[in-house]
Amino acid sequence: MDLINRPRRLRQNNAVRRMCRETRLSPDSLIYPVFVDETLSGKRPIPALDGQFHYGLDAVDEAVKSCIDAGVGRCILFGLPAKKDAQGSSAWDSKGVVQKAIRAIKAKYPDFYVITDVCMCEYTDHGHCGILCGHDVDNDKTLEVLSKTALSHAEAGADMVAPSDMMDGRIAAIRASLDAHGFSNVPIMAYSAKYASAFYGPFREAAGSAPAFGDRRGYQMDPHNRREAVKECALDAAEGADILMVKPALSYLDVIRECSDAFDLPMCAYSVSGEYAMIKAAGAAGLIDEYRIMCESALSIYRAGADMLITYFAKELAQAMRKGDIG
Ligand code: PBG
Repeated sequence: MDLINRPRRLRQNNAVRRMCRETRLSPDSLIYPVFVDETLSGKRPIPALDGQFHYGLDAVDEAVKSCIDAGVGRCILFGLPAKKDAQGSSAWDSKGVVQKAIRAIKAKYPDFYVITDVCMCEYTDHGHCGILCGHDVDNDKTLEVLSKTALSHAEAGADMVAPSDMMDGRIAAIRASLDAHGFSNVPIMAYSAKYASAFYGPFREAAGSAPAFGDRRGYQMDPHNRREAVKECALDAAEGADILMVKPALSYLDVIRECSDAFDLPMCAYSVSGEYAMIKAAGAAGLIDEYRIMCESALSIYRAGADMLITYFAKELAQAMRKGDIG
């Protein structure tokens, strides 16, 4: 055959395939979610998330050590407080669970990078992401408590704050409050395009944050919408976000692509609890090759345009990257 173009030339062996890879991955881009439970001593497996744990404040350094050992240098913290109320006041308590966890981590591992999730749903007794007015979340009242919460995280030593509530104007409000208190160097990672998704199911069980009534469709995005994600990213960028995020990841690869093309800011993707749980369950049932599916799924998120990835598989992925199975 007189074929000039033979793409297979570049697929002949591992050496040439690796040289020609279009997507390059690094463990530096991985962020591991850590759940800290104020009422717990030691660590306890999370039934909804096979292989994940709740950590007590006395064991949170163990979670960090396991990250460092696996080559992961960054985490995002979620807190399960001992007490909840209508306002979610334990969220901004200087001696709250996340604030204490940050201090514990930084005392032992000062160079480990700590991002905090800023939201009210784990702290309110009704499970919604803000202050209620009737059955609706009052946007502007919620901005005040989010700002106080983000500030308290910065004061405790957080390296970065990540608001996940989806209130309008929260990035501007948090930026203003951080700047007014001398934290102009603390970056904001905005959960910009966060969809009202069924993929958060296992997380809500893990974080005890399911809403007591109704759902989050009044503030999280409608999964039918793509243009609206660009609008949300534009608003967050204009309000001073340093990093944008799309969440969930696997069912929203088109949104990741579109938003990473449209903005110059770094793009994070959150591969959420339901994505992890599905891969673990199918792997445990012997239906798929869990390791390869984990690698291919993560890779597809980066190929779609993500610069960094929050994932429950962070430690396993860091090892896969080290071995060259992806990366
Ligand atoms: C808090 C928050 C949620 C997740 C991250 N931050 C839950 C939600 O919005 O209901 C989901 C993470 C996951 O499913 O892994 N608002």
